[in-house]
This record gives sequence, C-alpha cells and structure tokens, in this order.
Amino acid sequence: MKGQQQALDRGSILIKMLQVLANCEMAATRLLAPLLSLPEISFQDSNDLALIISDEARHGWLCRQKLLEIGGEAALPHAAAIEFLQPPNNLIKAFNRPLKTLADGVAFTAVMDLSADFLIGNFLDPQLRKLAKQLLADESRHIGFGWTRIPKSYLESPSQTEDLLAEWVELALDNFGRDYSRFDRLKLEYGLTRYPVARVKRSFAASVWGKIRKASEEASRITGEKVVILHPVVLNPYLKEFPAIRKRSAAVASA
Ligand SMILES: [Fe+2]
Ligand SMILES: [Fe+2]
Repeated sequence: MKGQQQALDRGSILIKMLQVLANCEMAATRLLAPLLSLPEISFQDSNDLALIISDEARHGWLCRQKLLEIGGEAALPHAAAIEFLQPPNNLIKAFNRPLKTLADGVAFTAVMDLSADFLIGNFLDPQLRKLAKQLLADESRHIGFGWTRIPKSYLESPSQTEDLLAEWVELALDNFGRDYSRFDRLKLEYGLTRYPVARVKRSFAASVWGKIRKASEEASRITGEKVVILHPVVLNPYLKEFPAIRKRSAAVASA
C-alpha cells in the first residue's frame, strides 16, 4: 500500500518478479506490433517479426499461468502493457520508447532481448528455472533477428545504426535496475536469482560488446574493408563502468 513499508517475503518477491516479467512481455508485443504496418517491410521481416510478437504474447501468458499456480495475479494484457508504456506508470524507460522503424526493431531485439536473456537466465528458483527455460528457447531467436541484421543495417545507414545501438544499450542497462537495491539483496538471499544485478549487468555489457565486434567483422567481410561498428567512444560511459570491456575496446580501436 502507498506510503507503507510493504513486507517482502520470498513468496511476495517471487510474485512481484513474475508480475514485472509478465508486464514486460506484454509491453514488448505492443511495442513491436506497429512495425508490421510499415510500408517497406519485407515478407521475411514481416514473418519473423510476427513470430516474435506471438512469442512475447505467449511468454506473457506463461508468466500468468505461473502466477496463478503460486497464488499471484497478473493484470489483463492490455492493462499490463499500459502500465509500462504510458506515464506516469512507465517505470521501465525502455518500454516508453516507441519503435517507429525497422532499424528500431532490429536494435530493440538485438539489445533488449539480449538483456531479457541475461535477466531470465539468472533465475535460480526451480519454479522460475522451468519457466525461464520455456522463454529462453525463443529469446535466442529474437536476439538472432536483431544481430543478423545489424551488419546490413550498419552498411545502409552507419550513423543511424550506431545511434540506435548506443541508445538501446543505455536503455537496456537501465532495465536491470539499481545494482544494490534491497529487492536485489532479497532476491539473492531467498535464492531466486543467481548473481547480484551488478554482475549480470557486467556480463550483459560484455556480451553486447562481443556481438558488436562480430557484427563489425561481418560488415568488414561484406565490404572488404575494416569496419568498426559503434566506435568505443560511443560506449565510453558504459565501458568506464565495465573495465574488462574498456580493455578489449581499446584493442579494437588501435587495431
Ligand atoms: Fe519474451
Ligand atoms: Fe523476446
């Protein structure tokens, strides 16, 4: 209740985590759906995006089933999406950023789905692990949708691709929440997650950097010239936070 310190035990933390997850899944369907109406969308992109949207709706439904099993409730899909998509309830910044172009959708799936993979993959509780397994089976395809298109997207529009990647990396890092919140400590204490948020964030950033390097190699292969997608300078604020990545990015910059 507002203004009151809510008692948090293992069960209520589990319910809260699943409610947030259910809302994120539903918000993702609402964000991605308008891309299907883009006049320039290809048959292949249309097919792949429609599958992703269908997956996210199923993920929301699976979260709801799990919530019912453990005595929690999920908001109706549309209400849940609104909670994240519209102020003043837009608690997660990333879900208040509309997707307007296919390039947006590519950066979103590349980065945000990857962040989902790290968050969900971090679940430790046996009930959550079972659910996570079902969701992660699809997330790798969603991540692939984004990253396989990044080299082409970069070659067509380098600055737009870099700007979008930089923006979504920032939004995705924010998506992890504060590193040392009470909620995070309780999740660890109750065995609901494997690692502290700071560690998951670090692994996520390292993974993003690895994928950017791979995409750069693919673009270099296509053009026959050395391509560095998202120069380390763009990622500096995050690289400072993650020394291991800074070291590797310096090596790329001087190569
Ligand atoms: Fe999902
Ligand atoms: Fe996804």
